[in-house]
Amino acid sequence: MPTFTHQGLTLHYRDQGSGTPVLLLHAFPLHGELFAPQLEALTASHRLIAPDLRGFGQSQPGPGPATMTTFAEDALALLDHLGIDAAVVGGVSMGGYAALALLQLDPSRVRALVLADTQMGADDEAGRARREEVAREVERDGMGPLADSMLPRLLAQPADSALEQKVRGWILSNPPEGAAAASRGMGLRADSRNILARFAGPALIVVGEKDVITPRAKADAMANVLSHAQVVEIPGAGHLANLEQPEAFNRALDQFLRSL
Ligand code: MLT
Repeated sequence: MPTFTHQGLTLHYRDQGSGTPVLLLHAFPLHGELFAPQLEALTASHRLIAPDLRGFGQSQPGPGPATMTTFAEDALALLDHLGIDAAVVGGVSMGGYAALALLQLDPSRVRALVLADTQMGADDEAGRARREEVAREVERDGMGPLADSMLPRLLAQPADSALEQKVRGWILSNPPEGAAAASRGMGLRADSRNILARFAGPALIVVGEKDVITPRAKADAMANVLSHAQVVEIPGAGHLANLEQPEAFNRALDQFLRSL
């Protein structure tokens, strides 16, 4: 996998296909392999770029909380490294939070948005406290308990056992330090309503029909503040719609990209 260096960290990414660049940012606590079904099916007609965010997959963790702005700065550095002025910027869940942080940092780099199983709101006080608990839990006990607690909420139930094993393996392969940093970083994120309201470009919002973490109402709320948004609900999918129902997800993404 190719790498680049940002703020002294070696960060890994996938870059396949040609055409309008599409940057895809993964969910917590996974890594860039989340987008394998898109890389397999869509790179005949599109260029997809899927990094391992810092502290996940093969990318090194940095110091302190990994804020969504930090992930966005890394992503902008990756676009610079690849000589890309503007990309379609997309993310699943935490990757969507990072995409919104990127939009805030530099809207000129965002040709269009793809927000999948994510939300524009910040955590409330209880949510922020829970982020710190998760961070301490992974630092103390490793990734196993987090995998156990998150898997039933990440995937529509009853989940296919091979898919569940795959996602469990991804979670367990990540360093606790990176997950703790990202959990704390998610707790620090601000509300992005105003950032979305200012965005005049096209947006595709995707949500799994059975997403219990960021359900349909969160998708509709984002669509309501955007000027050019379409919402696509993926039947039978949970929170990882792109992985659980790749054909339906890929169809929606392909149509959106072709419409730009
Ligand atoms: C994710 O899938 O990235 C996380 O569930 C997002 C979150 O916990 O807010």
